[in-house]
Amino acid sequence: MLVIIENNYDALSLRAAGIVASAVRKNPRIVLGLATGNTPLGLYRELVRLHCEKALDFSGATTFNLDEYLGLPANHRASFHTYVQDHLASRVNLLRENIHVPDGSVHEHYEEYCSAYEALIRKAGGIDLQILGIGKTGHIGFNEPTSSLGSRTRVKTLAPATIQDNQPNFGPNESVPPCAITMGIGTILEAHRILLLASGASKSSAVAQAIEGPITSTVTASALQLHPDVIVVLDEDAASQLRYRDYYERVLQNTMQLTPERVE
Ligand code: F6R
Repeated sequence: MLVIIENNYDALSLRAAGIVASAVRKNPRIVLGLATGNTPLGLYRELVRLHCEKALDFSGATTFNLDEYLGLPANHRASFHTYVQDHLASRVNLLRENIHVPDGSVHEHYEEYCSAYEALIRKAGGIDLQILGIGKTGHIGFNEPTSSLGSRTRVKTLAPATIQDNQPNFGPNESVPPCAITMGIGTILEAHRILLLASGASKSSAVAQAIEGPITSTVTASALQLHPDVIVVLDEDAASQLRYRDYYERVLQNTMQLTPERVE
């Protein structure tokens, strides 16, 4: 894992956007895995700016979202369809037919639906760069604590902490759906490259456990230790519980000298 610690959220977002933009420029037919949530908002904002001001071209790109609430229609304001539309798709030149978000309105044959989502990813050639956030419980996607580290796209029951964290996106009289469709840990680990972002002190414990703790299904992000090409971009607050941060800084300096393409 390459761990990059930036001073604050804005710097984290710029660094992450630089990595994504460079990947898009190198491979105009890139397949991107997209996360939603608060953390990548600055990254998407910067990608939109690069599209508008620096001609960053998404016309050949394909996207697959990690997850979607089960039971929410695509046009619900808290759906991840709406999120990806509002924060990226409607603001850059992604082609509608190349944007994929799990369909939260499926209400039968869930396994077939989830297998078909995976088949679409395979047909696209697999995910070149997967963007991830991390939950306070250490989840990636909606792979809640105790999810199988070999799991595939499936319906998953949300943990109480996740429901609480996501309640602000719903109205006062609305409940967060109890389940979601999410790519599994096994699915995520098949991405060629992974970019994990975390910001804020509330993530510092999950981040430390994911990077420096044992690989365990109780912190599903720890499974990323098994992947050979993960970049983690943190702000100072999210990095505050890391034990080896001086070492990460030295690794970054050496990587920039020896294999700068890994940091781009
Ligand atoms: C979102 C997702 C989640 C979030 C995580 C962090 O598609 O899969 O794993 O990345 O819950 O959310 P924020 O960034 O809102 O703290």
